Amino acid sequence: MQDAPSDRDALQALLDFHVEAGVDLALDETPHNRFAEAAAPPAPARAPEQPREAPRPAAPPPRALPKMAAAAPEDVATMARELARDAQSLEELEALLREFDGCALKFSAKNLAFADGNPKGRVMLVGEAPGADEDRIGKPFMGRSGQLLDRMLAAIGLDRSNVYVANIVPWRPPGNRTPTPQEIAICKPFIARQIELAGPEILLCLGGPAAQNLLNVKDGILRTRGRWFTYKTEAGRELRAMPTLHPAYLLRQPLQKRLGWRDFTSLRRALDGRE
Ligand code: URA
Repeated sequence: MQDAPSDRDALQALLDFHVEAGVDLALDETPHNRFAEAAAPPAPARAPEQPREAPRPAAPPPRALPKMAAAAPEDVATMARELARDAQSLEELEALLREFDGCALKFSAKNLAFADGNPKGRVMLVGEAPGADEDRIGKPFMGRSGQLLDRMLAAIGLDRSNVYVANIVPWRPPGNRTPTPQEIAICKPFIARQIELAGPEILLCLGGPAAQNLLNVKDGILRTRGRWFTYKTEAGRELRAMPTLHPAYLLRQPLQKRLGWRDFTSLRRALDGRE
């Protein structure tokens, strides 16, 4: 006769059920009103304890940003544009994003996944949003999609020492859902400024959301992939830009890898001045 399932078995089964249903993020036992928390006055400062280690010099000192979590999304997007425009370096932009509280995704994400690779590279690749691996590590394209991306880059003689990688949204949406148009609108000024400050020669948009939001194209990725567009920075500099299939899509649809391969050989030719 089989033993009755123990509490442990029941809990394990419940956990497995949640993971299978895509619930891979425990926020808390009870709901939190993050908007109210962010708008609340800061707790009174306590006398500092003896420091355990010497404080590390901060990169650029964090700026005191206005509290935005309770503001209307249009106002947040306007403030985000002004803030992003002020950043004079990628370090400043990253520090600013760490302080920015206008995008609710920040509160469920573990880390900001700002960038990976070489910001001086000739090519910048922009994806959609971090997944679980990227969120844990705090860098874009670290999981299976990132591994496929690295193999595709290697096939045309590139790697992360000579390309720069980022996402249109730098925080993981819970359960890997697609970022909402509002979240994208709020984050867009930051990625636009990131592209401008990195100043690549070529921008590769990985997947439909990156292409549609950065290149203002309406067509789906299967229509736009492999075509050259012009991306114009706010300062008026023009870059060559190409949408291509997202590596996560290629993992699901391996037969489409031949299209990805075509796009990457086109990128290689452009870098060699042959296209
Ligand atoms: N998918 C993306 O679009 N970006 C990542 O960083 C990882 C997966």
